[in-house]
Amino acid sequence: MEVFRSKGEQSSWSAREASSGSSIGFVPTMGALHAGHLSLVDRARRENGKVVCSIFVNPLQFNKTEDLETYPRTLERDLALLKEAGCDAVFCPSTQEMYPEKMSKRYDFGELDQVMEGSHRPGHFNGVAIVVNLLLEIVRPHRAYFGLKDYQQLRIVRRMAEMEGHSTEIIACETVREADGLAMSSRNVRLSKDQRREASTIYKALVRARQLYPHKDPAAIKQEAISLINASPRLEVEYFEIVDAITLQPLERSSEGSPAIACTAVYAGEVRLIDNLSLNA
Ligand code: PAF
Repeated sequence: MEVFRSKGEQSSWSAREASSGSSIGFVPTMGALHAGHLSLVDRARRENGKVVCSIFVNPLQFNKTEDLETYPRTLERDLALLKEAGCDAVFCPSTQEMYPEKMSKRYDFGELDQVMEGSHRPGHFNGVAIVVNLLLEIVRPHRAYFGLKDYQQLRIVRRMAEMEGHSTEIIACETVREADGLAMSSRNVRLSKDQRREASTIYKALVRARQLYPHKDPAAIKQEAISLINASPRLEVEYFEIVDAITLQPLERSSEGSPAIACTAVYAGEVRLIDNLSLNA
């Protein structure tokens, strides 16, 4: 497995592989890898000749310095896991390498980033879009793999890729869950034992929302889900929304026909967890 720290090395490797006829599958990450990431690598491996993974904790997408500072960094372990998973190349640049100059680009995603993560984490999606755009320019993959756990991010990345004219196919992959339903996340390691136990309630609330939809109105479903989560002493809902799965705008009425998704962000102490579930499944 090759490990590249410079943009030039990664680009040259990608160009060589593509010209020798290999398709390239790309899994962008911020490291602290878990089984969810490895399932993306596995899918990329099955669907492409070569697999590239990036590990870069992107400062532009953190709107709180403390969150950036406490984000888990486990590079040696990550590299060992990727090698074992059959990854062909890992791009792990420094911040200076990625952003030698201040990045001032501003994307206009319209209503897509005015809600949920976009409204609670100002600037977050602009930072995600900047880094993913740059990574796609460097790696030039045929396919790039993103987890459905970050559903709004997936919608934004697709929009960015269209806006920038990338030919990369953006592939959505199912959320990988722990046995009790908690979505796998790099942040889970920061949960205390009690917080971890209670955190499974987030998935229970999403499943409850799916049972109630479309029999009840979104407002009533939302109320019930929030009460269920907040009944756990160590959890506090930041938002729980039932939105149109395409526009991400909150739904006022339930209807069997329209694709709907429940999305939530919940604090367990200082740790912020997000999750979602399609309501049409
Ligand atoms: O989902 C993530 O881990 C990050 O937002 C991503 C896509 C790697 C961009 O930094």
